[in-house]
Amino acid sequence: MNQYIDSSAKLGDEVQLGHNCVIMEDVVIGNNCLIGHNVVIHRGSVIGDNVRIDDNVIIGKTPLSSPRSIFKVAQNLEPAHIGSFCQIGANVVIYAQCKIGERNLIADLATIRENVKIGMLNIIGRNVAIENFVEIGDRNKFETNSYITAYSVVEDYCFVAPGVITSNDNYMARDQERFEHFKGITMRSGSRIGANATILPGKVIEPDGMVAAAAVVTKDVPAARIVVGSPAKCFRTVPEPQLLKNNLDTKV
Ligand SMILES: CC(C)(COP(=O)(O)OP(=O)(O)OC[C@H]1O[C@@H](n2cnc3c(N)ncnc32)[C@H](O)[C@@H]1OP(=O)(O)O)[C@@H](O)C(=O)NCCC(=O)NCCS
Repeated sequence: MNQYIDSSAKLGDEVQLGHNCVIMEDVVIGNNCLIGHNVVIHRGSVIGDNVRIDDNVIIGKTPLSSPRSIFKVAQNLEPAHIGSFCQIGANVVIYAQCKIGERNLIADLATIRENVKIGMLNIIGRNVAIENFVEIGDRNKFETNSYITAYSVVEDYCFVAPGVITSNDNYMARDQERFEHFKGITMRSGSRIGANATILPGKVIEPDGMVAAAAVVTKDVPAARIVVGSPAKCFRTVPEPQLLKNNLDTKV
């Protein structure tokens, strides 16, 4: 097999590596990991036990920075951490200083930027983009092509449908005043966003709040209310059988 494994890297028992893998300095890989072809694991990354990593994945990538970028990339970011029993699909890119808990599924083509913290048992769908400085709790679902903007918080048991767009800058890159207002979105536990909805900067979706498909959310969404339209307006209350308290499944 053609591969580079740095002499300082520590691989656990029963680790399988595909062709052309590159495992850099001080990487630690736990037991029983299954790693595909062309996987690059950057310096110091820590991978738990029983992790599956598919072809062409990059873990611990250093962010790029343009002279025009508003936020300068910190030097010497900490390595990435991937918890045990995670499954990481093909072509996923996980940046440095990401802390990803146990039993998450990260599907093909997803990108998770630096300084992101993710709990456990989340499903992060195909081509989902999670920007920097995002915090995600446990048991959330992000469906295909959804976009979570920088400085957002997603608590637990939230649902983000395909094509959802979130935003954090109402000034759209003009005016120094924007730095005082720059803010990601907040999804409180059990909140849900329907397909193709857009959430404007800083908006909060309160517990069990629900955003209808294609809505444009310009105000906070009250707890357990459904909002519809552009601009989104309260439509009705979330039906009792759909409330999180009636749908908790903590078996896994
Ligand atoms: C908001 C929602 C839950 C309402 O469902 P519902 O209670 O079954 O509503 P109905 O289909 O009976 O529609 C009631 C009215 O609201 C309107 N409406 C429903 N959904 C709407 C939406 N997303 N945007 C604008 N109007 C909507 C309907 O046109 C109808 O209007 P009318 O009374 O003038 O005819 C649903 O339409 C929705 O948006 N679901 C999200 C689906 C989704 O994105 N799933 C993601 C996983 S794939």
